Amino acid sequence: MEKKNLDWSNLGFAYVKTDKRFVSNYKDGAWDEGVLTDDDQVTISECAGVLQYAQAVFEGMKAYTTEQGKIVIFRPDLNASRMADSARRLEMPVYPEEKFVQAVEDTVRANAAWVPPYGSGATLYIRPYMFGSDAVIGVKPADEYQFRVFVTPVGPYFKGGIKPLTIRVSDFDRAAPHGTGHIKAGLNYAMSLHAIVTAHAEGYDENMYLDAATRTKVEETGGANFLFVTKDGTLVTPKSESILPSITRRSLMYVAEHYLGMKTEEREVYFDEVQDFAECGLCGTAAVISPVGKVVDHGREICFPSGMTEMGPVTKKLYDTLTGIQMGHIEAPEGWIHVVE
Ligand code: PLP
Ligand code: COI
Repeated sequence: MEKKNLDWSNLGFAYVKTDKRFVSNYKDGAWDEGVLTDDDQVTISECAGVLQYAQAVFEGMKAYTTEQGKIVIFRPDLNASRMADSARRLEMPVYPEEKFVQAVEDTVRANAAWVPPYGSGATLYIRPYMFGSDAVIGVKPADEYQFRVFVTPVGPYFKGGIKPLTIRVSDFDRAAPHGTGHIKAGLNYAMSLHAIVTAHAEGYDENMYLDAATRTKVEETGGANFLFVTKDGTLVTPKSESILPSITRRSLMYVAEHYLGMKTEEREVYFDEVQDFAECGLCGTAAVISPVGKVVDHGREICFPSGMTEMGPVTKKLYDTLTGIQMGHIEAPEGWIHVVE
């Protein structure tokens, strides 16, 4: 199979239309078989549930070309189960988890020519999503839904690759207590758009959201969970009911403990403690692990000892181990890597 002629090493995090996408429809209480199609356009009612009341959920994961030349996907079963949780919370039908994994694998295989080559620094981002497709005017769940998967080759999420980020403490909230912060609903991201646009306009890379109830605890950013490293080398990550349970973060906590012999803690992290950490990073599928050099709280700068030029040493070890597992240099825990071809 011949690869597409792209400048793989200079891709940004942007949509590129690829050859095939998977589409399945839910009607009369059942999902159809689904097909791979060339058609990238969606046609739905002007009154569709997704357009009126934002009934939509999505997922994000990646496919990689390993050093051995295989195309692999990282832990798609966890995305399947998180999407099922998201769907239940928004009163949507669950797309069966095994069929989700199958649809993701089939879509990647059908677009093998778009999977960036090993060593290019790029990856294939996979976006499964689902939305209410029939007309809804009273506030209620739709009766019909569409599940789709498309893929797009991407480079780093943050411009500048792995240069440490500067983030600000946001005055806006991302998620309410007992709300939808723990699921991957499009509405959470609509909520964050004003905050990210104004952060960028003021020269920040991202927002740190605090808990909406007390504004004393660290939650997450618009698209990634936080990791902190204490001065004595413990990996700490915030525990909260209103953040997205990142698959990258859960994987890194495992890697830290079982591959690197580190102590790990998932616990509430008070903003007041942030100044005492040695390193800080953001983690997620898109973000991978992006180091944070500075947090700005209304003019007060918290600068991590790891500095603004490179990743801190612990963050780097975590990054190398996780990407080593994804790229096939380091043996993965059982079940983490799904070989597509
Ligand atoms: N938090 C938010 C709000 C996200 O959008 C994402 C991205 O999916 C993450 C965290 C990281 O999650 P994951 O590691 O599963 O990609
Ligand atoms: C992901 O990492 O998959 C996400 O969905 C984050 C998004 C902000 C691109």
